[in-house]
Amino acid sequence: MDNKAVEALTEAEAKAELAQLAGALAQANILYHGQDAPGISDSEYDALKQRNALIEARFPKLKRPDSPSEQVGAAPSEGFAKVTHVVRMLSLSNAFDGDDIIEFDERIRRYLGLGDVAPLEYTAEPKIDGLSLSLRYEAGKLIHAATRGDGAVGENVTTNARTIAERVAEGRKLPDIPLLIDGAPDVLEVRGEVYMSHADFADLNTRQVARSDKQFANPRNAAAGSLRQLDSAVTRRRPLRFFAYAWGELSAPLSDTQMGAIERLNDFGFQINPLTALCDGPAGMLAHYDKIEQLRAALGYDIDGVVYKVNDLSLQGRLGFRSTTPRWAIAHKFPAELAWTHLEAIEIQVGRTGALSPVARLQPVTVGGVVVSNATLHNQDYITGLDSKGQEIRGGKDIREGDWVQVYRAGDVIPKVANVDLSKRPEGSAVYVFPDKCPECGSPAIREDGDAVHRCTGGLICPAQAVEKLKHFVGRAAFDIEGLGAKQVEQFYLDGWVKEPSDIFTLGERFSSGLQQLKNREGWGEKSANKLFQAIEEKRNIPFARVLFSLGIRHVGEQASNLITRNYTSWPALITAMDAAAACEGVEWDNLLGIDGVGDVMARSLVMAFAPGPERDSIDKLTGHLNIEDAEHPDIDGSPVAGKIVVFTGTLEKMTRAEAKARAEALGAKVSGSVSAKTDLLVAGPGAGSKAKKAADLGIETIDEDGWLQLIDGL
Ligand code: IVH
Repeated sequence: MDNKAVEALTEAEAKAELAQLAGALAQANILYHGQDAPGISDSEYDALKQRNALIEARFPKLKRPDSPSEQVGAAPSEGFAKVTHVVRMLSLSNAFDGDDIIEFDERIRRYLGLGDVAPLEYTAEPKIDGLSLSLRYEAGKLIHAATRGDGAVGENVTTNARTIAERVAEGRKLPDIPLLIDGAPDVLEVRGEVYMSHADFADLNTRQVARSDKQFANPRNAAAGSLRQLDSAVTRRRPLRFFAYAWGELSAPLSDTQMGAIERLNDFGFQINPLTALCDGPAGMLAHYDKIEQLRAALGYDIDGVVYKVNDLSLQGRLGFRSTTPRWAIAHKFPAELAWTHLEAIEIQVGRTGALSPVARLQPVTVGGVVVSNATLHNQDYITGLDSKGQEIRGGKDIREGDWVQVYRAGDVIPKVANVDLSKRPEGSAVYVFPDKCPECGSPAIREDGDAVHRCTGGLICPAQAVEKLKHFVGRAAFDIEGLGAKQVEQFYLDGWVKEPSDIFTLGERFSSGLQQLKNREGWGEKSANKLFQAIEEKRNIPFARVLFSLGIRHVGEQASNLITRNYTSWPALITAMDAAAACEGVEWDNLLGIDGVGDVMARSLVMAFAPGPERDSIDKLTGHLNIEDAEHPDIDGSPVAGKIVVFTGTLEKMTRAEAKARAEALGAKVSGSVSAKTDLLVAGPGAGSKAKKAADLGIETIDEDGWLQLIDGL
């Protein structure tokens, strides 16, 4: 290739060279993707890419539609195929101090009915600060790799994961991930964390600077950006590492214990973390935490806590899961990193439920490798110096505009203010007065008794609430309409085209009847407008859970929507139940509250959203445009209790009440606290009283604990 200085190139030469570079890089990519043998070395590849970028910078007009620089920068999430996880990928609940760990152990003992002294072992291991990856092997061969995504569906990143399996890191003899495994179960899904070492991260950023490419804020972002790359040739040049710590689907168990299973993964060729230890209770767990914390700075990679897991896998099985986290594991987080900065202003944001959220605008400061310029101030009390229970925080110091504040961030959470330096408070600074009017619509903002939050009372007339609701409605876990994101929906709102979700479904009709002309608006042509209408049409058929989540009802998030819709299974059934609950029918309240994960607050919020009024009208208008697909009961292949209403009463001797309830729900049953004509089955232990009598009067099938265990045996 001609290596004439870029400054000396004529336009014709530049054009020819760009074509040549596009061809060479495309060829290199094909070789990287499709074959084991790369066509050119990493450094040659880098040099070609860099020359291409330099020529493009000097002759921007000559940039080709198939420019190699564009291919690298494309938004990754659009481009990956989806993978449905056979076994969901969960997250972990968090603990912050020793008391939380003692409670974790107590909770587990209570759930299992173990008492205070029975032995109970845990593993303790570092919590790696990267991103999780699931690797599926069939007959010992790596067949696909997927990110966690929303836990149920992830992105297929197989080609990129293979690059990890093809690199031997410095100081190691084998890659962190094996491509082929000897002696593995037929189906083996290995889960763990992809991460980047400090040294590799520093090298990568040096290379990025040299190529005038963007630098990464921290190793986790670099690892995530590298794994979720459409161009796997780029991933190949990013030195990613992997620690295995869990598994998904298995055709045969790996071991009886967590430790044994992890050791087997190690035998199969996976890297496991050398600081994984077996502990016999909270004291040992906390001692190992201290040890890991002391070693943290010298590890050479980022960790953000210690994960504890019940070692006995049969106990893990009994403990099972809450909606998104296992009961048998917890993450003990390290204290957050801190930095001081200047608080320039306090601004109020109005959310989709009308909550007024105060936000601190900060002079940008680096905290733990990330530039922070905003921090949440939560609510009025938090600014005043009180927590949710009315206890003093920060020694009771209030927060004012102009203050010198200490901010912190832990993991992905929004930064918070930890402290205020009163010695630096500007003279004459004023106490912050929380607004009693919505800054967006001027409606009164009311703080109800017992609530920490001020809420705008404007409802749908408040533009901020309406826009936030619309943004939520088109979000990824809700309607996810291609071509209709937060930006577009905000613009449509300002234009007066879409005021509420149902308007989206009449857009096409209104435009085609000539009412408004989307295609003449900036950014829209006839083709893109028609594509949008087509995408909207496609979303008229939509799963039940997505519809419920899309409504943006307070406290009803994605997981809750799944739980609720699985329970009611169809939209009409939910509406009937909500109408009955609004009319104060106790059985419906019992049913709703009987769903594991639905508490009092959520239940009330749900019923209120469906109570007669403008919000319900808006919901009905929307659903008139939709065909809502029924939900399925979870995990119920062959379950004799799927969809049945079960009541437990009396003393259970082989399991705790909590365990019985969780198990029944996992098998698709609804567990209720009271017997009614709707009850299908009563499980009665010794000492059963009025409930057993009522069931007998109503002719409801009644069995004992052994009968129940027989009924669900093997499921
Ligand atoms: S166990 C079912 N172990 O932390 C439990 N997770 O905050 C599966 N993580 O999503 C997770 N190190 O990405 C586990 N040693 C470790 C971990 C670990 C990092 C990540 C993982 C998980 C997240 C939860």
